[in-house]
Amino acid sequence: MSLQTRLMTAVIGFVSLILIIVAVITSATLGKTMEDQLDQKLNTYAHQLVRVTQAFSPSSATAQNILAGPFAPPTGLLFVVSSPVSGYSGAIVESTAGDELSSGLQTLSGSQMIEIAAALKDTSVATVSLTDLGSYRIIALPADNGVIVVTGLPRDEIQNQLTQLLTVIALATIGGLILLALTTAITIRVSLRPLRAVAMTATRVANQQLDRGEVSITERVPAAEADPRTETGLVGAAVNKLLDHVNTSLASRQENEERMRRFVADASHELRTPLASIRGYSELSLRALRQADAPVERPEIIESTTSSLERIQAQSLRMTRLVEDLLLLARLDEGRELVYSTIDLAQLALEGLSDARPTAADHHWHIEVPEEPVTVVGDAGRLHQVVANLLANARTHTPAGTTITLSVAQEGDEAVLRVHDDGPGIDPAIRDELFARFARGDTSRARQTGGTGLGLAIAKAIVEGHRGFLTVASEPGDTTFTVRIPTNPAAATAGDVPSEA
Ligand SMILES: Nc1ncnc2c1ncn2[C@@H]1O[C@H](COP(=O)(O)OP(=O)(O)O)[C@@H](O)[C@H]1O
Ligand SMILES: [Mg+2]
Repeated sequence: MSLQTRLMTAVIGFVSLILIIVAVITSATLGKTMEDQLDQKLNTYAHQLVRVTQAFSPSSATAQNILAGPFAPPTGLLFVVSSPVSGYSGAIVESTAGDELSSGLQTLSGSQMIEIAAALKDTSVATVSLTDLGSYRIIALPADNGVIVVTGLPRDEIQNQLTQLLTVIALATIGGLILLALTTAITIRVSLRPLRAVAMTATRVANQQLDRGEVSITERVPAAEADPRTETGLVGAAVNKLLDHVNTSLASRQENEERMRRFVADASHELRTPLASIRGYSELSLRALRQADAPVERPEIIESTTSSLERIQAQSLRMTRLVEDLLLLARLDEGRELVYSTIDLAQLALEGLSDARPTAADHHWHIEVPEEPVTVVGDAGRLHQVVANLLANARTHTPAGTTITLSVAQEGDEAVLRVHDDGPGIDPAIRDELFARFARGDTSRARQTGGTGLGLAIAKAIVEGHRGFLTVASEPGDTTFTVRIPTNPAAATAGDVPSEA
């Protein structure tokens, strides 16, 4: 059964039951009142008739005689007289019109009289159903002259009125119920409309293909059906919220997928160039060796082979570096790989500088570290890599003679490491995506021995793995990369437990 049918059945059934009970109680009460009134009237008539009867002698006391007397009986009155002398006689007043009352009297038959006598056998008041006449309320009273007077009034008036009342109630009830059914149906339909809208929206979304390609869920439950003030509207609003959420998740999933695809494409592209070089140089030297009769004795072949092998080695190194960087990035993406211990950042900077200095004697190197250690909880190897990457950049992307300053300081709750250089600054073309993977300046790209474009992406991933921040401020002659790492281990490693080795 649909909710609508069920609600309507319940409401209409219940209201009908109440109306039936009301009708029964009303008619019962009314019937009782009318019976009481009838009894009162009957009593009055009976006593009047007893008085009238006492004026007659038992021999002349017949119902017809008495009724023809001065007493003006009402229509429908039943009157029976039982006289010890003249016996039983009974009549019913059919009409009071005209002076000649006797013509308006209907004499009771013997069987009707027997029915009356039977009803009054053990009681003075009774309700009797008379053949051909219907139901009567009768009362028997003795008169002084030995005559017993039975007076009766018809009950069919009461029946008629009750029937009429019940008919009116029934008609009104049926009308009311029809009206109720209509109103209920409309109310339910209007109230349930938001649910229908929700169902329709959900079906449309379900029919949408969401498993591949660029997807977005534009379907929403109409605002009119998503009014959070009503219960059903609340469902609509909740569904809309859910759809918003799913849509955002789908978009970010899509974005992730695209980034991954781009990453793989970039990585493959990066690997292709050194691989092509390796193939080219190896083919070149092989051909030279094969074509020559006695290659070992020919110095120019040995020279060219040596130079080819050197290039092959350089390209292999470049590829190895690239693959190592990719592997590290993939591991950082996975969110593991950090081995925590307490590290002195100043010490780390000093080591980083002494590693970098010999590789670029034509740059001027400075270091500013405080006397006391600047400790952080972190992964020494990875943080070392951050320093190395930043110093390598300051060295490789600046001309000879540039001054590079490495400084470490404790600032509030943060350990701060800065790499400053007075070189030409970051290429504005890549400023916005400086920390993105494979983002490189033109100079770096053009140079055969240039970087992989992953250095800053790796540094950023490592610093963020330490809940820190890597930022850059750059203008020609003034470039600073700043690493900030919280020194509060709880903040630094909220979530994973650091082991203070
Ligand atoms: N100190 C710097 N001065 C000028 N440009 C820089 C500096 N550091 C980084 N860059 C620019 O940022 C780019 C990205 O750096 P990075 O991610 O380390 O890649 P890579 O060094 O392999 O090119 C570099 O190609 C370079 O153009
Ligand atoms: Mg670099």
